Amino acid sequence: MQTNMNVWPSSFRIVLIALVSFSFVNCGSAGITSSFMRSEWPSIDIPLDNKVFEVPKGYNAPQQVHITQGDYDGKAVIISWVTREEPSPSKVQYGISEKQYKFSNEGTVTNYTFYKYDSGYIHHCLVDGLEYDTKYYYKIGEGDSARTFWFQTPPKINPDAPYTFGIIGDLGQTYNSLSTLEHYIQSGAQAVLFVGDLSYADRYENNDVGIRWDSWARFVEQSTAYQPWIWTVGNHEIEFFPEMGEVQPFRNYLYRYSTPFLAARSTSPLWYAIRRASAHVIVLSSYSPFVKYTPQWRWLRAELARVDREKTPWLIVLMHVPIYNSNVAHFMEGESMRSVYERWFVHYKVDLIFAGHVHAYERSYRISNIHYNVSSGDPYPVPDKSAPVYITVGDGGNQEGLAGRYRDPQPDYSAFREASYGHSTLEIMNRTHATYHWNRNDDGKKVEMDSFVLFNQYWAGNLQRRRLKKNHLKAPLDRKTGIATY
Ligand SMILES: [Fe+2]
Repeated sequence: MQTNMNVWPSSFRIVLIALVSFSFVNCGSAGITSSFMRSEWPSIDIPLDNKVFEVPKGYNAPQQVHITQGDYDGKAVIISWVTREEPSPSKVQYGISEKQYKFSNEGTVTNYTFYKYDSGYIHHCLVDGLEYDTKYYYKIGEGDSARTFWFQTPPKINPDAPYTFGIIGDLGQTYNSLSTLEHYIQSGAQAVLFVGDLSYADRYENNDVGIRWDSWARFVEQSTAYQPWIWTVGNHEIEFFPEMGEVQPFRNYLYRYSTPFLAARSTSPLWYAIRRASAHVIVLSSYSPFVKYTPQWRWLRAELARVDREKTPWLIVLMHVPIYNSNVAHFMEGESMRSVYERWFVHYKVDLIFAGHVHAYERSYRISNIHYNVSSGDPYPVPDKSAPVYITVGDGGNQEGLAGRYRDPQPDYSAFREASYGHSTLEIMNRTHATYHWNRNDDGKKVEMDSFVLFNQYWAGNLQRRRLKKNHLKAPLDRKTGIATY
């Protein structure tokens, strides 16, 4: 997989991707450790006076604009922004024609202090009752300082609705982060599944923590104002700073980033779910209680039971800490969550589990370790057709740099791994097929590296059952018993 696939004819690439899917996803052949060597830009944050952090002109102009899904099924968005000078109304004007804003909604405004930093006025406005598959234009702010953006709502929930997600993790605000963001925007994906560790502002002290949360939100606005980013929390959102008198976890994050947790019957914005097009996406918090009987455990149990693969065939789980990781960095940190939830992931045939945390890329085979129970069973993960594919994309490009050391030899569960920056895309075609790509940032260029066709765990696995069901309807009934006979 060291070859640049972009130089090959497209028909040959499709055949190759299909072959890769058989060999990498379903079977247990030897995994690949990429030896690609890259010239890495320094892992330093971009200086605050760089234009990527530019404050929009005008008195009280809205800045740090970002949207996320606002309900369970994709007919609402939450629009958030910050004004610096005064609270001003949290009003969103919107409509389906440019410069004609027929509708408006009013949200809420709040602010907070963190150590001696005073936040701007943070606005959140739910815009609901939208039509599916429609482009909306929206306007926020007042007078000459008003700003306009647009977004596209997803197709109606439908098992065959095509949809493309991007997957980004551990982004930060370095030159490598900028490269990842630019490459992601070029990909044409429609929404981001973000797997935690947003700004890395917690690497700073005192007032600079708040300032770097602000700069990060301005940095990503070129994407977040136009399409929903589905947020997951990472360790860099915890920000437990007793030395600064800040001991309430996730405080900066929670003021700034809303999630539609109530619509998903969750009791916390840190774990929730959305349905979008043909996908059911479950977001978990690696840094909140998750063991048996905790609120997150009870919610996940109920949410998994609510998943309807006939309506949303693609079941995707997001979390920050990977369950299967063979990098030296953060090795085994996901073991506690694995021991609690892996059995459910296999039982419900989750298609994909995306995580971040490790600053490198890795993909697993379909494997599970659910038969081991301390007193008996094989303690190693084994091939399991019902298990998800685990993918780590903590390679957004933050100031901590790459995790370049992998465990040697490569464990049997690891299919492909490479310590580079990049992002992924998941292109859902219909209820049975999706194509997946991991794209490396290669000296400023985007290079497609790890690609495969994914067969849906529910629909591909149930072909035989559905054939039987179909035949059952056609089969003659036994007159005495009423049971179909073949
Ligand atoms: Fe992390």
